[in-house]
Amino acid sequence: MANRTFTIIKPDSVRKGNFGKIISRLESEGFRILGLKKVSLSTKQAQGFYAVHSERPFYPDLVKYMTSGPVYVAALEKEGAVPALRKLMGATDPSKADAGTIRKEFGESIEQNAIHGSDSDENAAIEIGFFFAESELL
Ligand code: CMP
Repeated sequence: MANRTFTIIKPDSVRKGNFGKIISRLESEGFRILGLKKVSLSTKQAQGFYAVHSERPFYPDLVKYMTSGPVYVAALEKEGAVPALRKLMGATDPSKADAGTIRKEFGESIEQNAIHGSDSDENAAIEIGFFFAESELL
């Protein structure tokens, strides 16, 4: 099982001062932070990152939201990292997320849902490569 995943601590989390609390949850669940950057996504970057959703009705708003303020992007390591992070995040819609999950605690709405996590090992590798060179992963 691959050991890496990728996360974005989204603009709503950064705005509300929840970055530290979310990173702390990740660390206490055993994720090692291989790389971490604070970035302001350009419209092009957000469109490219979420290109798989480009035909969905929520895509224009999603791009607007993801460029509305700085985010933190991080490459994480843990055994079975992809499913482990998805479990810790909870359902996309925070109102449907299980108690104790990050989205339940910090998410605002189905769009402003606090955190992104890769949905497969293949996408984790692509998403990490979007923001990090291998030499930046320590
Ligand atoms: P994420 O896991 O980053 O992947 C795609 C994002 O699109 C998702 O989190 C939400 O921020 C957003 N999203 C997914 N479904 C919807 C929806 N039905 N309405 C609005 N935004 C959505």
